[in-house]
Parts: sequence; structure tokens; C-alpha cells
Amino acid sequence: MSELTVPPRVSIDELVGELHALAASAFDKTEEVRSLLARMPVEEASLAPYLSWDRQHYTRNLIDKTDLYELIAICWEVGQGSSVHNHRGQNCWMAAAVGKLLVENFYVGFQDIEAGKCQLAASNTVELTAANPCAVDPREPVHRVLNPREANQRAVTLHVYSRPFDTCVVYSPEQGTCGDIQLHYNTVFGKPVAP
Ligand code: SIN
Repeated sequence: MSELTVPPRVSIDELVGELHALAASAFDKTEEVRSLLARMPVEEASLAPYLSWDRQHYTRNLIDKTDLYELIAICWEVGQGSSVHNHRGQNCWMAAAVGKLLVENFYVGFQDIEAGKCQLAASNTVELTAANPCAVDPREPVHRVLNPREANQRAVTLHVYSRPFDTCVVYSPEQGTCGDIQLHYNTVFGKPVAP
């Protein structure tokens, strides 16, 4: 089936079942997990236990976690976006269950994380939809995700990170600064996490 045609939607449990069935080696490259996400777009209703919303910041909701990967749902209010960040050298895949988002990639000219200094330039922008899941390019892993105001709808994305990680580097391309941050979940397996 062409990836321009969106296949029938599946439940989040079906996707989790397929992720569990993958060999460990699938998480070391990008294509196998990306094409799984393209073949198995997830129906919104099955994500209901994992959706939480915050007008100040997008929310991170843990769905599944193994030694190999974690799967989270991110809920984006209209106009919300992530910081420019990396994924600590780990692989990352994203699929939009709801909405049409933008992934803006950045070229890193220079970074000194200890000194908190960097120089970044925008490279390309990719549209993230149910029909077009994407893998972060390990050669150019710095990016940000935006739910553009013009889309005028809430969005929900699914993110697979391998291996799981709980910190990342955030960058300010405008100021030429960068630094480590801790990542948090808003809900874990459908239950709110105390702030
Ligand atoms: C995040 O995990 O907080 C940001 C979303 C992403 O780009 O993967």
C-alpha cells in the first residue's frame, strides 16, 4: 500500500503489541520502526487514557516502557511547540495520531555543552501527519516540533525513543546557548504524576 494512502487505524494496544514483537536490532536503525508507524496509524479513541492537556506547556504521557524503548503520547494545544532539542544520541520516531504538525530540523555548526554555547542554523522542515510519520535523522538530530497556530486544532503525537532517556540538551538558536534539562511525564500508564 502506498504511504500516501493512510491504512486503517489500529488501537494503541495493537501498536504496542507490534513494538514488543520487534527484534532489538530494529531499534538500532530508523526504517523498521518508521514503516511500522506508517502501517499502523493509531485511532484517537484508544488513546483516551493517555491524553492530558495543559494550556501552558505540551504534556508528555507515558504509554509503554521497556529496556529497549519508551512510547509516549504528547498532547499539544494550538500553537504549542517544543524547545529546540536533541535526543542524547538515541533514536526517535514520531507519528501524528491527531493533527498536522511541523518538525523543524537544525544544523549544528558548533556546540560546547559544558560551556553552554552553540551555533545552529535552520535546515529543513517536515510535515508530521498520520500518513507521514518520521524518524529523527541520527546525523542531524536537533529539531523542534510545532503544532502551528494556523492548524487551529489540538494535536496528539506518538513518540518512540530508543533507548529510553530522561534528559536532553535544549538549544536557543537565537542566543547561541544550550544546556541540559530533565524530562518529565505528566501521566504514567494513564495516571497523573504529582507535580
Ligand atoms: C519531547 O519529548 O519532550 C519533545 C518531543 C520530541 O521532539 O520528541
